[in-house]
Amino acid sequence: MDIPVIKIFDTTLRDGEQTPGVCLEVGEKLEIAQALAKLRVDVIEAGFPIASPGDFTAVSQIAAKVKGPAIAGLARAGQKDIDAAVNALKQAERPRIHTFIATSDIHLEYKLKMTREQVLARAEEAVRYAKRFVEDVEFSAEDASRSDWEYLCQVYTAVIHAGATVINIPDTVGYVTPAEFGALIRYIREHVPNIHKADISVHCHDDLGMAVANSLAAVENGATQVECTVNGLGERAGNASMEEIIMALHTRKEFYKVDTRIDTKQIYRASRLVSTLSGIVVPPNKAVVGENAFAHESGIHQHGILNNSLTYEIMRPEDVGISRNAIVLGKHSGRHAFEDRLRELGFELDSDAVNVLFGRFKELADRKKMVFDRDIEALVNEKVTLKPEWYRLSYHHVVSGNRMLATATVRLETSAGIVEHASCGDGPVDASFKAIEAAVGFKVSLRDYAIKAVTSGEDALGEAIVWVECDGRPFSGRGLSTDVIEASAKAYVNAINKMIAVCGVPEDKISGKQA
Ligand code: KIV
Ligand code: ZN
Repeated sequence: MDIPVIKIFDTTLRDGEQTPGVCLEVGEKLEIAQALAKLRVDVIEAGFPIASPGDFTAVSQIAAKVKGPAIAGLARAGQKDIDAAVNALKQAERPRIHTFIATSDIHLEYKLKMTREQVLARAEEAVRYAKRFVEDVEFSAEDASRSDWEYLCQVYTAVIHAGATVINIPDTVGYVTPAEFGALIRYIREHVPNIHKADISVHCHDDLGMAVANSLAAVENGATQVECTVNGLGERAGNASMEEIIMALHTRKEFYKVDTRIDTKQIYRASRLVSTLSGIVVPPNKAVVGENAFAHESGIHQHGILNNSLTYEIMRPEDVGISRNAIVLGKHSGRHAFEDRLRELGFELDSDAVNVLFGRFKELADRKKMVFDRDIEALVNEKVTLKPEWYRLSYHHVVSGNRMLATATVRLETSAGIVEHASCGDGPVDASFKAIEAAVGFKVSLRDYAIKAVTSGEDALGEAIVWVECDGRPFSGRGLSTDVIEASAKAYVNAINKMIAVCGVPEDKISGKQA
């Protein structure tokens, strides 16, 4: 007997990008979309085209370049929004318009100021209009979980009649419990007469920490598509986390009796990429992709694992693409071995990118005795975040101690020349940041700073994440080095580069031009 396949609709680039503080550039969105295609998600929601020119460009580029999954663009239930989505999706192989309007009384009264009849008519009209341009139209009843069930069924019946191929049931405010949500899905299946003509999708938020449980309860009750984000990014507390849903369905297949098309071995890589580009660090105890998800601390557990990993491991790290931290390469390893390892880790890069990375690998191998798979993954992700480079840190020297003021000297390369500066500060990181600020010639507003080790050991690679702010918008930067002060300086320069790409810099303040 064929097992039903649950479709995975990824909204990392739309709802995930609504995570407070996250702001992805077009190139970064494209990079994530390529990783999602490798994961084999069924649908990528690439953005909300009418929301901003940046969103429009990102959706257009993803539609043109990313093949495999259907590409969806979000649109409120109105012609202007739908026109923007149609235009952005022009080059998509399989375009989907995702249109929505709220159906709960509280949204109707206080937000839309519309009657139920008006909303029903608007929803139908929007689907009919979208259908003129694309075959695949998804309709979402925003705040469905707090809507009147009978009315909700009327709306879904009408939009399917108008041509909707997917009806989505969002728990917009993360309010329902799994039992309630399961019952709602069953009710919709039993009370929407034309339901067999559409996929039943669910979209859960995590305000009460139940987004994944609610999504799984929906699957048990007949949902055929689940909407989710990598690392559970999203508005407020986030959306249902893709890796948890996939691995629950995969690990408990005999219970859920469904399958997905996902290549689970790509999960960890996608999670790291999204974390790196969004600047949102994955908590160590996060299920499936957290640093500790496969770590066994207690002696009893370690003993059991050594005898048979099934004693305490319900999934294997390899299943989600986590290598067991084997020593793979050292300073005598050649380019071929390095390239082979990159391929084995799932990275397909052109030869220019491999050349750049091989240079960085050699520098790292000189400083570090053993180079682990995690180090290589970190180098690849660092390369992704290093574009665009306005400034490059080419020299960094720090003098510090417990009874002296720290001093840092930095040299930055720009296309306009070299700038060098020295500053004192309260510790080596502060001195480095001040020297960088003096070198670029303008004030940078630092919002947050964190540092962690990529691998264990004295010579572990340190990863610094820095957040800076410009016009109220946050920009994250990331730096890697075996020296944590250097990693911090690199992260600061990386964040400044990203900020400049969006906010620009007043001409007269670019020190490089004066040099
Ligand atoms: O949470 C929500 O209701 C949404 C809709 C636009 C699907 O994101
Ligand atoms: Zn949402």
